[in-house]
Amino acid sequence: MTGAPGAAGDVGGIEALLSDWDGVGVVVRRDGPTGTWIFVVLDDDTLGPPTGGCRMKVYPTPEDGLADGLRLARGMTYKWAAMDFPFGGGKSVLAVPGPLDGDQRRGLLLRFGALLNSLGGRYGTGADLGTSVDDMKTIAEVTPYVIGVHGRDHGPMDPSPFTALGVFSGIQAAVAHRFGSEDLGGRTVLVEGVGAVGDPLARRLARAGVDLLLADVDEERARRVAEATGGAVVRSGGVTATPCDVYAPCAVGATLSSETVSGLECAIVAGAANNQLARPSDADLLHERGILYAPDFVINGGGAMAFTLIYRGEDQLEELESRVSAIGPRLAEIFEEATRTGVTPWRAAHALAERVLARGPQSGRVSSFEDMRSPPPGQLS
Ligand code: NAI
Repeated sequence: MTGAPGAAGDVGGIEALLSDWDGVGVVVRRDGPTGTWIFVVLDDDTLGPPTGGCRMKVYPTPEDGLADGLRLARGMTYKWAAMDFPFGGGKSVLAVPGPLDGDQRRGLLLRFGALLNSLGGRYGTGADLGTSVDDMKTIAEVTPYVIGVHGRDHGPMDPSPFTALGVFSGIQAAVAHRFGSEDLGGRTVLVEGVGAVGDPLARRLARAGVDLLLADVDEERARRVAEATGGAVVRSGGVTATPCDVYAPCAVGATLSSETVSGLECAIVAGAANNQLARPSDADLLHERGILYAPDFVINGGGAMAFTLIYRGEDQLEELESRVSAIGPRLAEIFEEATRTGVTPWRAAHALAERVLARGPQSGRVSSFEDMRSPPPGQLS
């Protein structure tokens, strides 16, 4: 390794990032043929094997890739714990030097799969930003520690309808908490981003009698969903200032910031997008304005939950949907605790996750990802 301290590939930068880090471990591998830095971050294994997606991205330096992995893996720890699901926080990052395709991409993915094998099931992965289900199928050629490649019909699985169902149940819980009834009839919900999650969410909301407002940078897409659901299109420029009962961000992150929160005209924010808060303190700003916020890492876990249940062999749609719909009651607990203790739902969700982590797994802990296929009785119930 060469370069000044902190420059690309400098081991001192990596050491600095890890010296105060209190996770389980990080596997660092430099992939010679492609020049990719591979980081497998095992943040926490209290509840079960660290599990989280594989991100492929060009970062300015390898340290930026590791920093992203550390942050995302910690997020997964809280996500699983807040849902009280027997997985730990983990994430992998393939910090590629530039876009990879063809044999180079395939070679990297196969070597990454072999690396997962060497961890013996202490980490399980899935698709994330920059990787596709096809990439996961390539990895799965050499390792069993991949979720989302064998869905209910044994083909690749799309988690989005399950994510949408979880968000739907979360919106019901938020509406019940804020207005005293979970009946969505006549409520106005603004869905921002009608893609893989926003589209099925909008259709579910329409069936529940919601007055829909739909926004998307792709206005043609918004118009199509509006036609199918009887909703109205909102120009994507003025979304956050549009009056509605529920604002459901289902596009990009960081739409809640000190600049936007003051202009919000909604009673509730509840949507699928990851990292909705530009800064954690934006949860306080929402609270001060009396806007109920459903923490993203709880409400958007439906797809991850369904993936892992299917991996475990539970493929009955009714059962899967009932498990994912439990996200609503989970959020109701969080809202009640937040009200009781005078904190924001964001803080209450973190406190709940901390308590679950302090308590540990409900029944015998499974340490290998693959063993989730035959967990101890009650492990996932
Ligand atoms: P997608 O890419 O299928 O759909 C996103 C939609 O948002 C697209 O229609 C796009 O045109 C639109 N969009 C992009 N930027 C926009 C903007 N600035 N304003 C308005 N619309 C915009 O993505 P998907 O899978 O539906 O995910 C949506 C969000 O939910 C993402 O933040 C994702 O990270 C998060 N999420 C998705 C999960 C899933 O199961 N797909 C699971 C958990 C979180």
